[in-house]
Amino acid sequence: MHNIQPITSDLIYVGASDRKLALFENVYPIPRGVSYNSYVLLDEKAVLLDTADAAVGEQFFENVKAALAGRQLDYLVVNHMEPDHAALIESLLLRYPEATVVTTAKAAQMIEQFFGSQPSKLQVVKEGDTLCTGRHTLAFTMAPMVHWPEVMMTYDTTDKILFSADAFGTFGALSGNLFADEVNFEGEWLNDARRYFINIVGKYGVQVQNVLKKAATLDIQMICPLHGPVWRQNLGWFIGKHDVWSKYEPEDKAVVIVYGSIYGHTEAAALRLGTLLAQRGVKGIKAYDASHTHASKLVAECFRASHVVLASSTYNNGIYTPMENLLMDLKAHCWQRRTVALIENGTWAPQSGKLMRAELEQMKDISIVGDTLTLKSALQPCQEERLAALADQIAASL
Ligand code: FEO
Repeated sequence: MHNIQPITSDLIYVGASDRKLALFENVYPIPRGVSYNSYVLLDEKAVLLDTADAAVGEQFFENVKAALAGRQLDYLVVNHMEPDHAALIESLLLRYPEATVVTTAKAAQMIEQFFGSQPSKLQVVKEGDTLCTGRHTLAFTMAPMVHWPEVMMTYDTTDKILFSADAFGTFGALSGNLFADEVNFEGEWLNDARRYFINIVGKYGVQVQNVLKKAATLDIQMICPLHGPVWRQNLGWFIGKHDVWSKYEPEDKAVVIVYGSIYGHTEAAALRLGTLLAQRGVKGIKAYDASHTHASKLVAECFRASHVVLASSTYNNGIYTPMENLLMDLKAHCWQRRTVALIENGTWAPQSGKLMRAELEQMKDISIVGDTLTLKSALQPCQEERLAALADQIAASL
C-alpha cells in the first residue's frame, strides 16, 4: 500500500521513513529514525526529485507508482548522489526507462562509479540552467561540498519551492505530519536537526554560507529537504539556525561539561564545578559522561554552547580515550570560537591537561579560561578554593 501525501496541488511526497536503522551512515545513532524524502511533481511533464535509501525501496516504489497514477516518468532530478538518496536510481530506471536523468556532470560520473554506466538518457545541468516542465520552471543551483562535491539544489521558480538536498534536513522519522509547523519542532526536533547538521555538514561551514547567500537572493516559500519535515512556515528561524551553525557561532550562552572519568573521581570534580557554577547563577548547565554519550551528541552540544568544560583522566600517558576521540571529532568538524576550561587527573603523572590544551591550540579562536585544575587521584578539600575560583572565572566570562 502506498503512503503518499500531497504538498501542493501538483507536488506529492513519495518518500519513506526508516525506524529500524540503528546507525545512520553506520555511525550516528538515530533512535527517532530517519526519513528519506522524495517528491513527484505532476506538471505537463512528470518529474521525480531524488530517489531514496534501499532500505525503504518497497515503500518508495509503491509511492512513486501511486503518485504517477499510470503516467510515464519524464524526468528524474538527482540533487545528491549519496546512497541514502541515490541507491535506487538503477532500479528506478529499470522500471521507468523513459525517464531522463537531470543532474550535474559530477553526479553523472558518480552514477557510473556506483552503477557501472551513465544513464542512457542524461541531461547534464550547471549553475543557472533551467528545465521547463509545463507550468513550472525548475532552476538548478550548485551547492558543492554541502556536503559532497556534486550536490545541487532545485528551485521551482513557479511555486517558490527549494528542493534543498541534505541542507535543512534532520534526523527523525516522519509520523504522518509532513510539515515542520505540524510538529513541536523546537521542543522535539531541534536537537536532532543540530546533531544532523553539525556532524554531517558542520565541517563545510564556508560552503554552507555560500549557499545561504544564494538562497537569500531567492523568494523561498517552502523548503523540501531530503530528510525530515517540509518547511512552509517560519523558514527564517530555521535558516537562521543554519547561519549560526555554519558560522561556528555559539547558539546559546551556556556551559556544557564533558568528563572522561575512569573510576568517578574526575566526574566528581566536574560535577562539583557544575554545582559551583549554579551557585553563581549559571542556568541550563549540561553535563555529559564522554564514555556513555555518543560523540555525535557531544559534538553537537559543544557547538551549541558558548562555554565548554573538558575534564579528563590521564590514560596510557595520554588523554583518556573517549575524551581524546571527542577532541579529534571537534577538530575534524572545525569547532572554533568557544571558551574552554580544563580539569585534568592523574594519580602519578597527570598529562591530560597539557595534551588537551595542545589539541585546542590547533583549533581556531579557542580561549582557555583560568588555569588547568590538576587532580591527583581525586579532588582534595584544599582544592575547593581553586575550583571555586575557576567557577568564578567561567561565570564572569559568560
Ligand atoms: Fe542524506 Fe548526504 O545524504
